[in-house]
Formats: sequence, C-alpha cells, structure tokens
Amino acid sequence: MNVYLFAVVVILWYMLYRYRRRRVYELAALIPTAPEKIPYVGALQHSYNIMNNIIDLIHKYTDFAQNNGGFVKIWVGPMLYVGITNPEDVEFILKNCLEKADIVKLIRSIVGNAGIFAPVSIWTRRRKLLIPAFSPKIINSFMNILINQSEELAKQLSRHKKVGTGRFEAWSFISAYTLGSVCETALGIRINYVQNPDNKFLKAATNLFALMADRIFQVWLWPDVIYNCSSKSTEFYENLKTVYDLTDEIIQTKKEELKDEDIQLDSDSVIFGQSPKKVRCFLEHLILLSKNSGGFTDVELREEVITFLLAGTDTSSVAICNTLTLLAKYPKEQEKVYQEIVEVLGELDRPLEKDDLKEFKYLERVIKESLRLFPPAPLLIRKVTEETSMPTGVTLPADTGIIVSVWGISRDKKHWGPDADCFNPDRFLPDRKTGLFIPFSSGPRNCVGYQYALLSVKMALVGVLRRYKVVGQEEEGPAPKIDTKFTIMMKAKDNYQIALEAR
Ligand code: HEM
Ligand SMILES: *[C@@H]1O[C@H](CO)[C@@H](O)[C@H](O)[C@H]1NC(C)=O
Ligand SMILES: *[C@@H]1O[C@H](CO)[C@@H](O)[C@H](O)[C@H]1NC(C)=O
Repeated sequence: MNVYLFAVVVILWYMLYRYRRRRVYELAALIPTAPEKIPYVGALQHSYNIMNNIIDLIHKYTDFAQNNGGFVKIWVGPMLYVGITNPEDVEFILKNCLEKADIVKLIRSIVGNAGIFAPVSIWTRRRKLLIPAFSPKIINSFMNILINQSEELAKQLSRHKKVGTGRFEAWSFISAYTLGSVCETALGIRINYVQNPDNKFLKAATNLFALMADRIFQVWLWPDVIYNCSSKSTEFYENLKTVYDLTDEIIQTKKEELKDEDIQLDSDSVIFGQSPKKVRCFLEHLILLSKNSGGFTDVELREEVITFLLAGTDTSSVAICNTLTLLAKYPKEQEKVYQEIVEVLGELDRPLEKDDLKEFKYLERVIKESLRLFPPAPLLIRKVTEETSMPTGVTLPADTGIIVSVWGISRDKKHWGPDADCFNPDRFLPDRKTGLFIPFSSGPRNCVGYQYALLSVKMALVGVLRRYKVVGQEEEGPAPKIDTKFTIMMKAKDNYQIALEAR
C-alpha cells in the first residue's frame, strides 16, 4: 500500500518536474545529440582514463557539432549543456553571457568568489578593481623580475645538467619559472622551487589542482555534503589551509609595511613615482588601491592572489612547454626564431632589456600559433540565464550551460583554411586573414592577465632558445601531434620530454 502511494507520489512529482521544464525539453529536442556518450556521466570508468581520453572526446563532439549546424547537446544529469562551435555564436556568448555554469562552482571551493569563477553580481566590482593592477605601466614595471627569472631558468637547466645529456622532463623547470615569476610579481616573494623542490606552497598548490581535476570527473562528488565524506576531501582541505595560511601571512606582512603609505588611487606614484620602493607586486597594488573605500577586504585579497597563482601558473607553463615541443618538431622554424634573437640581441651575451621584447615578431607568431593549435584552456564554460536566440538561429532555454570549444574554433577549416591543423606561424602575419583567436577568451570576461602572460611566455622562450637548441623527434608532417591529457589544463602526457643542446 505504502509502496504504491510512494510510487504514485514519485511519478506525480516527476511529471510535474517534466511539466515545469517542458520548455527546456521542447527547445533541447531541436539541438542535435552526439552519438558518442560521455563516459563520466555513466560514472563507472576511472577518472584517469577519462582525463587521458578527453581530448578525443572534445575532438569528436567538436566534429559532430561542426557537421550539425554548430551545436551539440550534452545532458549532465538533469542539467542541459550545449557545445557551440560557430564563431558568430561564440563571439555572441563571450560578449553577452558572462555568468559561468554550475560546473565551475567546484573551483569556487578553492578560490572563493575571486574574479575568474565568481557569479556576475560579485565579479563586476572585482573586475573593476583588478583592471588597474594589470595596466601596461604596471606590467612593464615587472620586466626586470621576469628577465631575472628567465635568466635563472636558463642557468638552472645547465646547473642541473640538462644540456647535452638527452631527454628530460621540461615541465618541472618551466613550472618553477612560471610559479617563481607569479609569486614574485603577485606576492613579492622569491621562491626557488628548482633548488627547493620541497617548497610547501608549491606542493600544496599542485595537489589542490590535481584533486580538483579528479573531482570534476566524478560527478557524484560534486555536492560538498558528499565530497566531505570522501577520503580525498581531508587532503583537499589540508592543502587548502596551507595555501590560505601562507597567503594570509604574506598579506598581513604587506599590509603592515604599507600601512603608513597614503596614496591616491590612480596616481602615478602608486606605480612608479616617489614611493620609496622599487617595483611593487600585484598584491601591493591591490592593497594600495583598496585603501580607498570600495576596495578589497582581506578575504577578497587572498582570493584574488590565489587566483593569480591558479590562473597564471599552469596555463603559462603549458604554453611555454607546447611551444618548445613544437620548435623541436620543426627545426627550420626554430632556426628562424634563433636568427631573430641573434638579430635583436646582437652580441649574444648581453642581458635582455625592456625594449627588446617587442622586436621578437616571429617569435610572437610562433607563440600565437602554439596557442592556437594547443590552447592551454581548451574549453570555456558559460551559461545563458534566460531564453536566448543565437545569431545562427538556434534558441537555447534559460539556464543552459554553454561549452565553447576553443580547440574547435582554432582548428575550424572553414575559417582557418584547409591547413588549419598544420603548424604555420606565418598565418599570423599582419596582412593575413585569420579565424577567431580566443585562447585567452574574449569580451568583457576575457583573461585579465593576457598581456602579462604573453610577456612571461616570450621571456622564458628567449631565455632558453638564445642559449640552447631544443631537439627531439621531428614531426613527420606539417600537422603536429602532442599526446595530451586533461587536468583542467590540456597538458602533454609525458610532462614534455625534450632534449637541449648548447648553441
Ligand atoms: C598562456 C597563459 C594564459 C592563458 C591561456 C589564459 C587563459 C584564460 C582564459 C581562457 C580565461 C577566461 C575564461 C573564460 O572566458 O571563461 C582566463 C581568465 C583569467 N585569467 Fe588567464 N590565462 C593565462 C595566463 C594568465 C595569467 C598569467 C594571469 C595572471 C597573472 C591570468 C589571470 C586571469 C584572471 C584573473 C582571469 C579571470 C578574468 C575574469 O573572469 O574577469 N591568466 N585566462
Ligand atoms: C636574480 O635576482 C636574485 C635576487 O635579487 C639574484 O640573487 C640572482 O643572482 C639574480 N639572477 C640572475 C640570473 O640575474
Ligand atoms: C565541508 O567541509 C569544509 C571543511 O571542513 C567546510 O568548510 C564546509 O562547510 C563543508 N561543507 C558541507 C556542505 O558540509
């Protein structure tokens, strides 16, 4: 009897649920479904398999969408997600739909409501506060730190006998460089991971990333209530505490140092001027900029700083490593990069200077081509909050999650030409027509560290390539292959095995 009653209640509830969402199903029915199932929704496979194969899936879904009008539907439980691949639609979404879909809530558990993953209501104010800290003047003032870090990178490679001694994992050296530079420019602290691989902060940050990537592929672990019961969560919160404590300590020290400085917002003296100290780190800028009402609280400061570390380190490392790998595959192009460096720097031993950087035009094209073929962030996640008609005609129901395939956009043969899968830096020559280039996203919520990232990537590459030749297996054809896995970033499975020879 009770069982029947229960069944009836469940059925009625379900019917009501379906009825309330009838518009969602009605519109969803018009969007094509890929034949391939996403394994993690089935929740049976081990997450590592999925991470290793996700690029394959992105490939298949992207192809499917591109052959079916630019849309593909993905149900994540009851939540509707739609992958989009038409450049017009992508530009429209990135410009107009700034809310991020629920998947990113997970990441909020690490960075709180910091810029990158915050709901629009919170994000708007934060973004406004962040922008002045990334002004060209401030970025320029970091130049010497970056030069020092890139010199340090080159030195460490030879100190650790990685030159002329065969293949080694470039990843740890490159990420030491990016973490070192972000820590110095964001927090004003020098850490040297290569000399000090037990660095507590680095370990904790690395673990956090891995645990988060793991959780993303285990849908049942998404709710905090359930995650908190799993064994991994203890590890997660321990690492989180380490990162929080260290950042808080640094923030308090800096605040103490700066407490007597009375500086007007927007005045040049914040940046260079008479202030007693040389270069200020991002954190100091944020503290000074927050002295005026409406600035950051302590918790907000911490959240923003952690975001820089998370958003700025692995992304840039992946970009640098991919570029080195590509140059090993294409020695002719590497030679052109080297010739350009020789031309710009003249005598090879002289240190880099600020003004040199903009002269590396060919290198810039190589970096862009590397970001196009292997975007460190292959997917962008957004959400439409109300029923929305796309420029190409399809209507998406309210609350649909959007997945933008950066990978697909970058390799779309219709817009990049038949050689879209090939490595050809010269497609970025100023007079050539290109497709949509969005490795840093676009629109009001794009990567705020875009200029900084390009500078840092360029600097590392010049530091390495002016001294060493990257060698490895040459690519057989013009379309490079790098075997990648998905760890939120898209990163090579072998942690970038390369070899270096002295020039
Ligand atoms: C090659 C390196 C990098 C790549 C490929 C990259 C890519 C991206 C992408 C794709 C987004 C936007 C996500 C979206 O539209 O939903 C983003 C946002 C962001 N990035 Fe980067 N990034 C890089 C380096 C950096 C660096 C070095 C920093 C800081 C020091 C940084 C700070 C940020 C921040 C704060 C946001 C959030 C912006 C907002 O939501 O308002 N990024 N990045
Ligand atoms: C970088 O700066 C540090 C500290 O200021 C200094 O000890 C080191 O020698 C510098 N490294 C290079 C390669 O210039
Ligand atoms: C899960 O655990 C963390 C850390 O112990 C805590 O801050 C959070 O509130 C918990 N969440 C839930 C829903 O129990």
